[in-house]
Amino acid sequence: LAVVHPSAGNLGGGGFAVLRFGNEVRTLDFRETAPAGATEDMYLDERGEPRPDASRVGPLAAGVPGSPVGLFELHRAHGHLPWPEVVAPALRLARDGFVVTRRLESSLAASAEMLGKFPETAAVWLPAGRPPAAGTVMQLPELAATLEAYAAWGAPAIPDGPIAAAVELAARRHGGVLRAADLAAYRAVWREPVRFEAFGWQVASMPLPSSGGNILGQTCGLLERLEWKKYPRFGADRGHLLAEVWRRAYADRFLLGDPRTSQASAAQLLAGEWLDLRADRIRLAKATPSDRVRKWSRELAPEPAETTHLSVMDNDGNAVSITTTVNGSFGCGLLVPGAGFILNNEMDDFATAPGVPNMFGLLQGEANAVGPGKRMLSSMTPTIAWRGDQVIVIGSPGGSKIPNATAQVLLNLIVDGDELQAAVDRPRIHHQWMPDKLFVESDSLSPETRRALERRGHEIELTRQVGEVSAVRGFVGGDMLAAQDPRGPGAAGVVRPAVD
Ligand code: DON
Repeated sequence: LAVVHPSAGNLGGGGFAVLRFGNEVRTLDFRETAPAGATEDMYLDERGEPRPDASRVGPLAAGVPGSPVGLFELHRAHGHLPWPEVVAPALRLARDGFVVTRRLESSLAASAEMLGKFPETAAVWLPAGRPPAAGTVMQLPELAATLEAYAAWGAPAIPDGPIAAAVELAARRHGGVLRAADLAAYRAVWREPVRFEAFGWQVASMPLPSSGGNILGQTCGLLERLEWKKYPRFGADRGHLLAEVWRRAYADRFLLGDPRTSQASAAQLLAGEWLDLRADRIRLAKATPSDRVRKWSRELAPEPAETTHLSVMDNDGNAVSITTTVNGSFGCGLLVPGAGFILNNEMDDFATAPGVPNMFGLLQGEANAVGPGKRMLSSMTPTIAWRGDQVIVIGSPGGSKIPNATAQVLLNLIVDGDELQAAVDRPRIHHQWMPDKLFVESDSLSPETRRALERRGHEIELTRQVGEVSAVRGFVGGDMLAAQDPRGPGAAGVVRPAVD
């Protein structure tokens, strides 16, 4: 992914992994951090007005990459193969070349204006001033050199030495505050997962600095209290209750941030008393206006973006659910010359200015203000669920829609007993408190259901897609199935290694 999917796969970004080995469940947080030079007002002009581009385009938007340290740490803790062998396939693709797909060509074209601002990036990704045509073979010699060093030295190859120096140089040239010292100081953190029980399943998902596990846990906890399962599938009651539950979970998200500054914890927000109180206020006949759940209002304009997810499981039921991102498509647009990777624009996931939504339209609070060394709040929701010897590994890209995409596929499986691919395929809906709208994929609601929801007070808006889920379902030592979302170009499969 770090080679063939440069809009999202990354060495210049970060992510999260949820792992289950035997009965042990743990999570690795390799989320980007704000550089030491970051300040709370770095995205405001002299008059205190927001400068939204500053947190999206160019290296001032970049957090300290966490992926180089994170991927190596996953290997160090749990890997079996020698590290150079793990890196080899990526290295081969970068060095020997890979075929540009139509999707890569069109995502490069969609971001060409931003990428063209940086000669370093244009030299690689816009040769002759435009994206390489689908079918072209692309070689990435600078990225290959970085991967060669990574294969030889592991994590230190990137945060220390010439590659980190190249990051600093590129950042300085374009007004960024990212420094080699930030990369050297970066640490991935093992964290206890958010754990809960839902519809008879055990679930482990990502804790802060992601809001994902919390939103998923609140969603399941509230739906159980509201007896969601008993209402007819695809009917207005179920859609309405999902919207009401998400409206509240995302309103609580406003309190969240880096674990050091968060104004609420998963323990508080998943506590039985809190969920009881929230569930009591939900009415079946009528939508609660979002500003009554928590006050706020503003016009919001979400933009496309890029993340990628991988769900994997082996024959013993060991499982990894990993979501990584550079945030927006091609991150901040700047490719580090000599290193070959593009830097993220994850700083936009902070509350960059009071009351200003991020690129996913999410309104966020003081707990998620910019601060040196802080991790910006995420919505990524890598998740593993199990019951007896059955295991489900699941996750998705999709910015603010990630927790709800994940929740809907999980509910299709554990509540309604869908077959895996059908669970992933079904049309989905989304609500995130603000804007106070129910976003729906086409075909997700019948005309009658749509009218019934409108009568209950929901403003409905069509959205292109809610996430892009990758899922695996298997029995320890037994059958296994994998499914990839038809909404995107990814692939799924079950591989049976030759026994020697
Ligand atoms: O961490 C987050 O929540 C965002 N940076 C994720 C961005 C994303 O999913 C873009 N994807 N399609």
